Amino acid sequence: MIRVAAVGDVHVGRDSRGRLRPHLKHLPERADLFLVAGDLTRRGLPEEAEVLAEELREVADAVPTFAVLGNHDFESGREQEVVEVLAGVDVQVLEGEAMVVAVDGTTVGIAGAKGFGGGFPGASGSEFGEPEMKAFMRHSAEAAGRLDAALAKIAGEDVRIALMHYSPTEDTLDGERLEIYPFLGSYFLAEVLDRHAPDLALHGHAHAGSEKGLTAAGVCVRNVAQPVLGRAYATFCLDRGRGDVACEDATATGETGA
Ligand SMILES: [Fe+2]
Ligand SMILES: [Fe+2]
Repeated sequence: MIRVAAVGDVHVGRDSRGRLRPHLKHLPERADLFLVAGDLTRRGLPEEAEVLAEELREVADAVPTFAVLGNHDFESGREQEVVEVLAGVDVQVLEGEAMVVAVDGTTVGIAGAKGFGGGFPGASGSEFGEPEMKAFMRHSAEAAGRLDAALAKIAGEDVRIALMHYSPTEDTLDGERLEIYPFLGSYFLAEVLDRHAPDLALHGHAHAGSEKGLTAAGVCVRNVAQPVLGRAYATFCLDRGRGDVACEDATATGETGA
């Protein structure tokens, strides 16, 4: 049994010192790894990343901790510095990359990519018309391509998890305004998930969305944006064994929202 803790959209600012750390204290007793689904900072500033790094230092010392960036982390054009600051406390940011950790003899692959918007079947953009529209949709396709590449790297692992910021499905956007769905995710990501069938797919970004969803082929999707969770993080238990991995939300995390 692999226990995964996850949260997204912690949006740490320069004034956030002490906001997360107390709520993560018991995480290492409850989870084997910790995943953070983007929008780590408010404006993507290295100073904000320094605050986050201190908040995560202890937990990342105790359990393998991985993250993807979110759109907020790109706001200042200093995302590479954010990545480096977090690497300093062993929080590894994944973009088109995968990591494998072993938990009691079970290998767990984590494939990470930010993803992007673009919309969902019947209501999506296309690479047509103005160069700006083409660029938008090309970025979405490339972002999904990076998730594809990352998932391909962990094809042989016992348990496989996809970590994104943007949503692969409309299911977990329920509660958001329909008008902004194309900015919240892309079905390109779901197509990739359905090709690889990971055991769990996590995302954030949709603060007013809902927690649970499925892709067309039945991949378990969870929106772990902290405003959706209303608690510090969610935990999931994944049983070993390809094809029959149960994705269940553990009930008692005990720790309340930050
Ligand atoms: Fe966010
Ligand atoms: Fe976001």
